[in-house]
Amino acid sequence: MISKATQLTPVTQVYHPLLSKFKIKLFIKRDDLIHPIISGNKWRKLKYNIKSALAENKHTIISFGGAFSNHIHALAYACKSNNLQSIGIIRGEPQYQSNFTLSWAKYWGMELQFVDRKTYKLRDDSAYLSELQNNHEDALIVPEGGSNTLALPGMAEVIDELQLQLDYDYLLTPVGSGGTLAGLIQADKNRHQLLGIAVLKQQGYLQQQVTQLLTQPAVFNNWQIFEQFHRGGYGKYKIADAKRILEFSTVTKIPFEPVYSGKMLLAFLDLLEQGYFPENAQVVMLHTGGIQGLGGMAERGLIDAQQWPIPAKAPTGD
Ligand SMILES: Cc1ncc(COP(=O)(O)O)c(C=O)c1O
Repeated sequence: MISKATQLTPVTQVYHPLLSKFKIKLFIKRDDLIHPIISGNKWRKLKYNIKSALAENKHTIISFGGAFSNHIHALAYACKSNNLQSIGIIRGEPQYQSNFTLSWAKYWGMELQFVDRKTYKLRDDSAYLSELQNNHEDALIVPEGGSNTLALPGMAEVIDELQLQLDYDYLLTPVGSGGTLAGLIQADKNRHQLLGIAVLKQQGYLQQQVTQLLTQPAVFNNWQIFEQFHRGGYGKYKIADAKRILEFSTVTKIPFEPVYSGKMLLAFLDLLEQGYFPENAQVVMLHTGGIQGLGGMAERGLIDAQQWPIPAKAPTGD
């Protein structure tokens, strides 16, 4: 089984002048602390995928991701620690194999197969997937981002934990491939307002992705995805955005990164300033981890390594 997580991830109330101004209470569900390596939603989404692979005597998990994917990074470690082989089908050139993320994945034993964009686009195509399955009969194939139906019971455990931890009105999460939000929706059963923050620019597509993962989509009416806070697209943001994230991190002493948790934070602050939340609302932000991504961003000169909490590089073996 997937290696140990802490019992319940902590919920921390944070204080900031803007929260006092708008009379809102903000709590962060610290899933980034769930495991030192398999952080946040990755741990939650992989838990039942790993269990299922072990129960079905699979030897390998195959999955898909970009060259800096949090999912690929987490999967490599989760497989290694459960004595499973892993294969990462990576969009891009083999030169990426020595980047921050993939050097860790390789270090944990993942086999990396690099494919061009055209091939990568086939990742959900049924003919392509059956051929892949035929070539790897003993493998469980997990979609990009780990967002399949097995991800849902893992995410549901966030709702179970929150139930024990506090009363709240709104729960926010970043949305990339949809499994995280889908799992929360299914477990919450319309008790709270669930707000997904799209981190990429793909109008309507995420709504569809999430709906497809739900067993009875028509039953759930308490959720929505905000699509206007992507800040130019996946991984894009302005200098002012980065400053705002860093300022919030300094005040709250909680690390964020600008691709997922930071984008959710910026969206929350925008909604707050627009008066979206009624006075005295209790809001929870799910910190989905992803701090490893800062390593690759620093490597590409996209962020100032002095300002962000950059994790350690994989040993090179020299
Ligand atoms: C750190 C982090 N947060 C949030 C998400 C979004 O989750 P999902 O892909 O399930 O929508 C991802 C991507 O999977 C991620 O890596």
